[in-house]
Amino acid sequence: MHHFNYVGPNLHCESVDLVEIARLYGTPTYVYSAATMADNYTRLAKGMVGLDLQICYAMKANSNIALLRHFSNLGAGFDLVSGGEIKRVLAAGANVKRSVFAGIGKTEAEIQLALENEIFSFHVESEPELARINHVAGKLGVKAPIAIRVNPDVDAHTHAKITTGKSDNKFGIPLKHAAAAYEAAAKYPNIQIKGVQMHIGSQLTSVNPFVEAVRKITPFVEQLKAAYGITYFSIGGGMGIVYKDALASGQQSWWDAQPADQRPLTPETYGAALVPLLQPLGLKIVLEHGRFMVGNSGVLVSKVEHLKRGAGKNFLIVDAAMNDLVRPAMYESYHEIVPLHRDSSRRALTADVVGPICESGDCFAKDRQLQEVGEGEYIAFMSAGAYGYTMASRYNTRAMAAEVLVHGGTFELINARETFEQQIAGEKIPAFLK
Ligand code: LLP
Repeated sequence: MHHFNYVGPNLHCESVDLVEIARLYGTPTYVYSAATMADNYTRLAKGMVGLDLQICYAMKANSNIALLRHFSNLGAGFDLVSGGEIKRVLAAGANVKRSVFAGIGKTEAEIQLALENEIFSFHVESEPELARINHVAGKLGVKAPIAIRVNPDVDAHTHAKITTGKSDNKFGIPLKHAAAAYEAAAKYPNIQIKGVQMHIGSQLTSVNPFVEAVRKITPFVEQLKAAYGITYFSIGGGMGIVYKDALASGQQSWWDAQPADQRPLTPETYGAALVPLLQPLGLKIVLEHGRFMVGNSGVLVSKVEHLKRGAGKNFLIVDAAMNDLVRPAMYESYHEIVPLHRDSSRRALTADVVGPICESGDCFAKDRQLQEVGEGEYIAFMSAGAYGYTMASRYNTRAMAAEVLVHGGTFELINARETFEQQIAGEKIPAFLK
């Protein structure tokens, strides 16, 4: 469920008309709904009731400091993956102490920054990384809290580029080698074994792979509790969201209409399947969802530049491009595209929706059925709150988009559109070319 709905003919985010935002701040602009994020957080927490729960929002999905502050106010910590992300948490006035630090290539400087800010735990992906964390902790005279990421070799049945829990990808330590990794960890003087972690992939639309992975790992988790007194188990993130019927899925009636065996994953289903497996462990359970928390909380608003009618093919050329939202180009992912102003008297249009970048990959949708929209009118890409802005680039010297946060009937710019001067601020012409 989310808070993007038509009120009369115009698409609103909560009580704000998106056309108003588009006119005020220009396009392309990301618009987020604070209420949707709060609902997602609360539903997830409620779905897991009965557990000692710590939600660490995976901030790689969307790391704008306003969103971090919002989640922090709701009680979240963060799943972070770089020194930059630690600095963002601090800039948001939020808590590193409730956050976990993942990633396969943490540098010494990043490890030091995490330790200085009393990170809740490191999620360790290899034995060389253990040695490095031990070394940095020793220099600082502290003990580094860690969990090892165990790869359960479970197929998440998601896109190949976002599956992580199979034995043939770069993440984690295979279950059969994990005991040895913990034995190694226990020998380091500056390491404190605190937990265990897994993460099997992203955009999972069924609870079954989560259940399979938790079941597979549970005996090992129990052994770790007995041997090292671990206190927490992170089961990662990965809960999928609705992309195909994104707009309709804002309504409860849409969910009620889905056949039970085809209903997309909800926090309620997730909790109902997992709480009974996790509760008997008597451990704190950490969740690292990113996409679920913000994906359906955001849209990318864009303006139509031209409707180019080709031979047998129409192209709707818009002012957003693959640099703003790379997911369709990178994963062939689907984002629903809707007009900000709906008009049932308009003709239908079938078109490829494309950006202005000089690559044929700069295509958001092929042969998409839309309401006819003309130059200067606005459209929205739905479900763009996760892995939208954070994966954006400046390709073709395009500016990073603006970001706006809506709260009820009010809204605020939370990231101004980048200027050209900001973009070239670090560049210079060397003396030998002058
Ligand atoms: N924990 C770990 C260790 C992760 O690697 C990830 C995501 C998460 C949690 C959060 O996963 P989520 O709940 O958001 O599914 N750019 C891709 C998704 C990449 C996910 C990377 N890791 C996309 O746009 O679909």
